[in-house]
Amino acid sequence: MKAVAATSSRTIRSSKTSRTRRSWCRPETSRAQGVAMSPLVIRAATAEDALCISVLATQVFLDTYAPRGVSAQIAREVQGVVGLDAVTRELSDASVKVLVATRDEFLLGFAKWTPGARHELLDATTPAAELDRLYVQEASTGQGIGSALMREVEAQAARAGAATLWLTAWVHNERALRFYPRQGYTDAGGTLYTYEGVSHDNRLFVKTL
Ligand SMILES: CC(C)(COP(=O)(O)OP(=O)(O)OC[C@H]1O[C@@H](n2cnc3c(N)ncnc32)[C@H](O)[C@@H]1OP(=O)(O)O)[C@@H](O)C(=O)NCCC(=O)NCCS
Repeated sequence: MKAVAATSSRTIRSSKTSRTRRSWCRPETSRAQGVAMSPLVIRAATAEDALCISVLATQVFLDTYAPRGVSAQIAREVQGVVGLDAVTRELSDASVKVLVATRDEFLLGFAKWTPGARHELLDATTPAAELDRLYVQEASTGQGIGSALMREVEAQAARAGAATLWLTAWVHNERALRFYPRQGYTDAGGTLYTYEGVSHDNRLFVKTL
């Protein structure tokens, strides 16, 4: 299996310790014990990250999109888009990029973006990229992890030649609708996300890089 093209990992705060990378998900201990926080690291995902990404994404997806509980449609959708098979496929697909945010090697969030992706409401002549997914585990939200992932995606997309980055957000995802304008994104209109024959209203957000 081919991993996503590696980029150098980025340490957001100064490093105190370095540890051997492990491929399994370890239980949280450091913050519970009141130990000073290690730096946040943002790096390209590898095939070894697939299980942790899939599990975190399933949790965040259900928290965000299944406020009334899990229906069979939602269960199929979550399996289809962030199940282990889907994430494993994405990590071996060179046309999509996945970044992970980790602290002490615990996965806290990730971003997936697609160079060259277009949206029908946007000018097709402007080189663009799509931020497909930006997920931070609930316990770690409000600490700057989402915006740090976002900044790194924007920097990489600009280096790859994109002039704009766009994304869509569900109209009932109030936190995301607040978050993106604060990150410099403009609401460019309404769009639909359809699965299992049902369409869901989304907003299209765009930023010039
Ligand atoms: C939307 C989402 C990605 C934001 O991620 P996040 O890590 O919470 O984002 P940040 O911490 O960078 O910013 C969130 C807020 O915390 C504030 N913040 C950031 N660092 C902070 C800090 N150290 N102390 C206090 N507040 C802080 C930011 O100013 C921001 O406020 P604002 O939204 O009013 O502008 C996250 O909530 C998430 O994953 N939600 C569920 C999935 C989702 O909806 N994804 C988007 C789909 S379109």
